[in-house]
Amino acid sequence: MGVQLTAPASYVFLSAAEAPAGAAAPSGYSAMATSCVTCHGSNGQGVDPIFPEIRHTPPDFFKAVVRAGRKDHKGDPTGMLAFDATKISDADLEAVSAWLVGLPKPTTGEGLYRSMCGNCHGPKMATGGGSPIKIQGASIANVDKFVRMGGSGTDVNDRLKYMPKYDTTLLTDAELTLIKQFIGAI
Ligand code: HEC
Ligand code: HEC
Repeated sequence: MGVQLTAPASYVFLSAAEAPAGAAAPSGYSAMATSCVTCHGSNGQGVDPIFPEIRHTPPDFFKAVVRAGRKDHKGDPTGMLAFDATKISDADLEAVSAWLVGLPKPTTGEGLYRSMCGNCHGPKMATGGGSPIKIQGASIANVDKFVRMGGSGTDVNDRLKYMPKYDTTLLTDAELTLIKQFIGAI
């Protein structure tokens, strides 16, 4: 954690009602070597003002971020440090990822947007955020394409360029429809 923490006002932090508890967190989530819980909250809801919610994150992207670290934070000079296999084993990382994906999902377009898209496209609406790429009013075809296939960037560390893909086990077509309605896709 860096010393100078300026609030970016650009990530999603979920309230207790928006992020209800599910199964108990696996041990890797709170182990001394990783302490995800300190920065991301007891249920992955994020800790205002600087540590984003991480619920329902696509597993491949999730694991790559933890292994690579996250260095593009605007307010925290060090961002998130990388955790290698000596700090969290593949099995423990898998368990943490599965737990976060399995936590209760929001049932509204807004909630789904906030949990899955908001860290990058704007915490409340698709008008800004860590990677302020506007998707308000995007075409339905473009939403389907980017969500199901991901973006063209390859560096998971670069929030401005990298968009992960979401398969139907993570985000069903019906849930994606709710998100499209929320962002006014046409
Ligand atoms: C010292 C604080 C700290 C710890 C400990 C920490 N993180 Fe992070 N994490 C951050 C910060 C800060 C960011 C946002 C960085 C950025 O701007 O991209 C972040 C981002 C993330 C992201 C990307 C979220 C997104 O929307 O892009 C994931 C996933 C993540 N962390 C998972 C974890 C996991 C799993 C652990 C435990 C193994 C963990 N973090 C431990 C500070 C921390
Ligand atoms: C980790 C950051 C991140 C997350 C999370 C994310 N996106 Fe993106 N998104 C991006 C980036 C970066 C681009 C530009 C990618 C490119 O051009 O290859 C993008 C592009 C898009 C585009 C195309 C915009 C256009 O018209 O050019 C759409 C639509 C989109 N995202 C929708 C979504 C939706 C819906 C979600 C949630 C289900 C989501 N994104 C989650 C980072 C993200």
